[in-house]
Amino acid sequence: MTHRFLGAVAIAVVCLGAGRVSGPPSQRWLVASQSDATSAQTAQDRPVMTQDVFTSVTVLRDIPVDTFFDAMGMFANAMGNDCTFCHSPEAALDRAKFAEVTPRMQRARQMIGMMQTINRQFFGNAPRVTCFTCHHGNQSPRSDPNIALQYSAPEEDPNARDFATDTTLSADKTFDKYLQAIGGLDRLGTLTSFSAMGTYSGFDTGFEKVPVEIFAKAPNQYTTIVHMAAGNSVRTFNGSSGWLAGPDTPIPIVTLTAGNLDRARLEALVAFPSAIAKAYPHWRVGRAVINDEEVVVIQGIDDERQPIANLYFAPSGLLMRAVRWTLTPVGFVPTQIDYSDFRDVAGVKIPFHRTVSQTFMQMNVELTDVQPNVPLDAARFARPGTPVVRQR
Ligand code: HEC
Ligand code: HEC
Repeated sequence: MTHRFLGAVAIAVVCLGAGRVSGPPSQRWLVASQSDATSAQTAQDRPVMTQDVFTSVTVLRDIPVDTFFDAMGMFANAMGNDCTFCHSPEAALDRAKFAEVTPRMQRARQMIGMMQTINRQFFGNAPRVTCFTCHHGNQSPRSDPNIALQYSAPEEDPNARDFATDTTLSADKTFDKYLQAIGGLDRLGTLTSFSAMGTYSGFDTGFEKVPVEIFAKAPNQYTTIVHMAAGNSVRTFNGSSGWLAGPDTPIPIVTLTAGNLDRARLEALVAFPSAIAKAYPHWRVGRAVINDEEVVVIQGIDDERQPIANLYFAPSGLLMRAVRWTLTPVGFVPTQIDYSDFRDVAGVKIPFHRTVSQTFMQMNVELTDVQPNVPLDAARFARPGTPVVRQR
């Protein structure tokens, strides 16, 4: 079996999930929301574009592969269904079948055109109207008013990009309280690296627990190695570039770009958060409710005044959630990272549980053993080699 087909299986499992989203396209998306990290990419590392590997793409061309899957996730989420709502059911077992054009794929292509026209003509090409704006998790958008909705309490989504700023709250104070809650700056300064072991479960393992190893080095290097049945899946951020490589990836090595690259940076930064207040150029603060608890939400805003990340702080001061949006040609698509089970490691509170939810996949990492201040050489964070995929 070739790498492509094993990847297919992973994607097929992955695509059975559906989530909830917002935002659309312009040509700006390629440059927008890129952190300065991206500019460090070398020629060898030019991200693979959709048309380099996918034969069916006629509209979503010139898009890095990582971003393309966020766009597909937007589709699944907006339809309230899985990938096979549009794709052949056989794609669940054979990745090549994703390229088989179906009537719903053709309908979806028309919809992309419609959405682009609306945004161009009426919203200055801003990604304002998206698949989700109309569909809201429904294949057939409702057009008649909903009386019950009008007369019931509004349902607030804490992940909304748009929330009311509360000027009585301060981002600086919230960050200070957070750094204090996890041990204080002095303690944080003494934790310069760690290695950890634990378990991983996700759509790509059928939610079976498999061993995971993590290597992290201050200020912002982070590698996760998932020991899957079909081989090792490596996800790494070296401080400026990031990659995914394994039996679960659609191509041997996926180079992270734009929003996904910046999310890898954010996740690495959260492991050594002393400088978290500098993560984004601008912030605004508000309130949200998660699990019936009022939390403080700090929104990171880029230089183009685009909200790109929300950080949620529990009453205890701890960072309990981060949401980072990736701008795709069909709108902003979120990744949600939930942190819990904070435990003391060398005097610093570290989240032993992390759940990452994307529109096309979900995963959990549970740590069992964390070793502080271990020597880690640069190779731990280098661009992964072509993955070795075990035959099945
Ligand atoms: C609303 C319909 C729709 C849904 C749902 C959808 N897709 Fe697609 N998919 C498309 C369309 C349309 C294309 C072709 C895009 C183009 O023409 O540029 C495509 C193309 C693809 C391709 C490229 C295949 C090739 O080799 O040419 C892959 C891979 C893919 N989708 C994966 C997924 C995954 C994984 C999911 C679920 C997370 C998904 N799709 C959900 C409509 C959909
Ligand atoms: C301006 C509103 C609007 C937007 C934006 C929109 N759609 Fe639609 N879409 C509709 C309506 C209305 C229908 C027709 C539903 C029906 O027939 O009941 C539809 C139908 C569809 C269908 C056919 C569903 C079926 O039952 O077979 C697909 C697939 C689809 N849309 C995908 C998309 C995708 C993908 C996007 C984003 C690129 C999108 N739509 C954006 C309004 C919208």
